[in-house]
Amino acid sequence: MANPHLDRSASLRSAADDPIRFFLPGPSYVLARVREAQTRATVAHRGPIFNPVYERIARQLPSLFATRSPVVTATGSATLMLQACLQSTVERRSLHLVNGAFSQRWFEIARSLGLEAERLAVPFGQAIDPSQVREVVRSGRFEAVTVVHCETSTGVLNPLADLARVVREESDALVLVDAVSSLAGTPVATDEWGLDLVVTASQKALAVPPGVSFVSVSERAEARMSAVESRGYYTDLARYLAKHRGGGTLSTPVESVYWALDAQLGHLALEGLEPRFRRHLRLRQRTLEWAKAHGFEPAAAEGHRSPTVTALRAPAGWAAPDFVSALAAEGYTLGPGYAELAATTFRIGHMGEILERDLEGLLDAMEEIAERPPSLTSSSL
Ligand SMILES: Cc1ncc(COP(=O)(O)O)c(C=O)c1O
Repeated sequence: MANPHLDRSASLRSAADDPIRFFLPGPSYVLARVREAQTRATVAHRGPIFNPVYERIARQLPSLFATRSPVVTATGSATLMLQACLQSTVERRSLHLVNGAFSQRWFEIARSLGLEAERLAVPFGQAIDPSQVREVVRSGRFEAVTVVHCETSTGVLNPLADLARVVREESDALVLVDAVSSLAGTPVATDEWGLDLVVTASQKALAVPPGVSFVSVSERAEARMSAVESRGYYTDLARYLAKHRGGGTLSTPVESVYWALDAQLGHLALEGLEPRFRRHLRLRQRTLEWAKAHGFEPAAAEGHRSPTVTALRAPAGWAAPDFVSALAAEGYTLGPGYAELAATTFRIGHMGEILERDLEGLLDAMEEIAERPPSLTSSSL
């Protein structure tokens, strides 16, 4: 069935969406028409109303992941899927590429499962270097390597294609990817780059309310699962695949988010993925140009800055949280700094449905605030 939300005569944005002042790096702003799609009545989740919607969603998702493999969905945030990936495919040893808070969390999930998890860590703000990974995976002792594509805590975009290539060249470890804040905002070429499990969530660059997570499953990953004994139940990707092939979800889904997802997939098809990626690149470029002109230093190393989120160090004299509070008083929501960067940075999520004109509004407000003496910020009044 064609997506009824794919109305080519409709504009992407309604007046209710203008301007967007919500720049959190997830959950991101959700268009009014997508929010409204959530208000349908509750229906049987294995029945004639939900089933065709599920099938339509399932048919569209692989193109977002650039894969021929199935993409399964779960009711639960991305963390559920990050755990499910490890629990479904790894019995003993995993390697975790860590350069920020979310990659560290994936390592901690592995430890919590009792795996012999090892870390290859570089300082926050730096990208993972593929040549370092080559040295470590060469031993062949890892069943899987995890990498976070966009480290939302620092705004670093790791060189995912190169990292996956060295893992593939040097070992038969599965490549497990957290594309939570990159997918649908920047290319994730799952098949071309040889990625085995790619996780994302509804509430980031996809711009759907929180509640649904996704994972694409390669044939290699599926084959590994049969040898893993304790896959759990809610974390068992083999069960998700079986139900998905039967045309449904593993358990009762958060229906409202599926309605919204269905509507948003229509919007994504209208915009087109390539134009969407180009828009995100322009948002990054404008943010970085503005930052340079006004003395704000990006936390992410040059050449590795994400198109979806930028973490900036506040200028001299400012505490980053005060800057975020001052913007909140003007009606703008930004992300605070995260983990070890909490006191020194703040984050602009330029992902999802943000347009250049929204960003210009934010940058004007930032400019006005940056010119005030720090003692006049809202939090210190
Ligand atoms: C890169 C990354 N991974 C994982 C997560 C955790 O996602 P969730 O809160 O959906 O479980 C986030 C959330 O911000 C994230 O940005």
